[in-house]
Amino acid sequence: MRLDKLLGMLGEGTRSEARDLVRAGRVLVNGVPARDAGMQVMAGQDSVALDGRALEYKPVRHVMLHKPQGVLTAARDKKQPTVMDLLPPMYAAMGCMPAGRLDKDTEGLLIITSDGQLAHRIISPKKEVGKVYLAHVDGPLGEADIRAFAAGLHISDSDGEFDAAPAVLEILSSAAERSEARVRVTEGKYHQVKRMFAARGVQVVYLKRLRIGALALDPALAPGQWRELEDDEIELLETEAD
Ligand code: URA
Repeated sequence: MRLDKLLGMLGEGTRSEARDLVRAGRVLVNGVPARDAGMQVMAGQDSVALDGRALEYKPVRHVMLHKPQGVLTAARDKKQPTVMDLLPPMYAAMGCMPAGRLDKDTEGLLIITSDGQLAHRIISPKKEVGKVYLAHVDGPLGEADIRAFAAGLHISDSDGEFDAAPAVLEILSSAAERSEARVRVTEGKYHQVKRMFAARGVQVVYLKRLRIGALALDPALAPGQWRELEDDEIELLETEAD
């Protein structure tokens, strides 16, 4: 591909910025200063360096994002900010997409990947990859709720009807006006967790995804922050360990 295109994919700016870098002699291809931003390079084979720093070409990218509240889980939206707006444009250019969806007001772990198969593994209910959420609700929770979640709730509301797969509810605290719980589900239907609690007569007032399968949200990431996944973390997702 063209050198300026590759530099763009590596996150080093737009094509015209890449041209300026080349003109300024700051880009080396196989150790030799590049003369022409339009020269052909083999991504992953030719070595490309900027200001003496080798640029690493990865054909596949996986990102862990701590999704903040107020941002849509979508590739793009004309009016509202999306999770892709939180990443350098290189990731969208490489075909990275969110693997599953968190509601606009939900925060927590979101994987954004250019690997469609991995995304499918994370999302597909058949794979039964557990997703663990922290939920705050506006009423009390008790043993009967634990049993109802475990048995599989029947959901019937203005958004439709379905039988939720069995889920694990762990009550962290319970009081008349506010309770906190962890819930593990293996599906991701529209507003799934909120609708499950609503079926038990309480409303979710705060929701955060803590884990996908064996992969936990990195506590070092504040809402809005992201990093690429480490190889062992990708393996955790691929082995479905849970
Ligand atoms: N369940 C919900 O209700 N919302 C989310 O964002 C994720 C799971």
